Amino acid sequence: MNIERLFIDNFRNLKTQTIDFSNGLNVLCGKNAQGKTNTLEAIYLATIGRSPRTRKDSEMIAFFNPALTLESKLEFCHQDVKHSISFKIKGSQKQIFVDDFKLDKLSDVIGNFGSVYFDPNTIELIHGGPSNRRKFMDIINCQISKNYLKALQNFQHILEQRNALLKTDGDTKNQMQIWDDQVAKYGTYIYEARKTFCSKLLPVAKRIHKSLSQGEEFELDYISFLENENTEDCYKKSLKETYDKDKLLGYTSFGIQNDDFVVKINGKDARRTGSYGQIRTVALSLKLAEHELLKDEYGDFPVLLVDDILSSLDEDRRQKLVEYISQFQCILTCNEFLEDIPCQKFLVEDGVIEKL
Ligand SMILES: Nc1ncnc2c1ncn2[C@@H]1O[C@H](COP(=O)(O)OP(=O)(O)O)[C@@H](O)[C@H]1O
Ligand SMILES: [Mg+2]
Repeated sequence: MNIERLFIDNFRNLKTQTIDFSNGLNVLCGKNAQGKTNTLEAIYLATIGRSPRTRKDSEMIAFFNPALTLESKLEFCHQDVKHSISFKIKGSQKQIFVDDFKLDKLSDVIGNFGSVYFDPNTIELIHGGPSNRRKFMDIINCQISKNYLKALQNFQHILEQRNALLKTDGDTKNQMQIWDDQVAKYGTYIYEARKTFCSKLLPVAKRIHKSLSQGEEFELDYISFLENENTEDCYKKSLKETYDKDKLLGYTSFGIQNDDFVVKINGKDARRTGSYGQIRTVALSLKLAEHELLKDEYGDFPVLLVDDILSSLDEDRRQKLVEYISQFQCILTCNEFLEDIPCQKFLVEDGVIEKL
């Protein structure tokens, strides 16, 4: 699938404009604070219904816009058919239109157009806490399966209810059963799906990582509280067993909300012993593996949105990465144009994106 055109109106510092992209590598170049990251954010927003940078949608509306409106509209081609997605904000209202039909639920936009976004913060996928890695697994699985999205929404909602009950005074043991059953049902489903996902991700990430890193060995292990006890009954039993502890803590200590995965490079935990460059390459390999796995779901490669990554890689790794991403539609930002690499160039200056 390829983005053909982006229309933006009142989006951060970007002027109201239409940008036509090419199918291969598109390079957005400009000085700091001109609107490069904002452009990628506008694209990502329309593909998944949320910003990669902020949870506060109002932050994206251009300053001094009294009407408090914003629009980001993508026109794209998928299997020779043209489609559009438009994300709009009007005051406190958010709306998404797919092919000009308004969606009932914002999350229904997921699955229409695939994009994979990475920026310097992607390193948190390895460096950061487990929630970064769970989010990575969840966002991909939500794109792969509507049932996963539903299970995750239900799980989060029910876990909140269970935690609220744990926080109330007095013994609530007898009222727990109903929540425990539901937590175990959806939790087991999520566990199974994440485990299957990791087993699919591993060989792909391993291959990509090998080519980006000159042959380092890559391994990935999914770590779950449910390890070797992957049935609903064991989940329920464990919730019962941890009730007293949970009541003291005021939250649910056992379950898939604590899951994680570990990446090893040449047999060693990358998070603990990897160099900065190695960790960055691992994070990139995971994102590029995501890109390849999503191809199977969409029937076509998603677009790659790559923000400000190149300057932090050495010449060799940079060259390998650019060769790799040039095979697909990619929108990449940088401070200097890349020499000797065929691409469509854009100059970004004061919120205006000019095709060169
Ligand atoms: N809601 C907003 N309205 C207007 N300008 C904004 C808004 N949010 C951020 N900006 C400005 O957008 C500018 C460009 O940001 P960005 O796209 O991150 O730059 P870069 O080209 O370095 O990637 C910054 O100067 C920032 O102050
Ligand atoms: Mg930027």
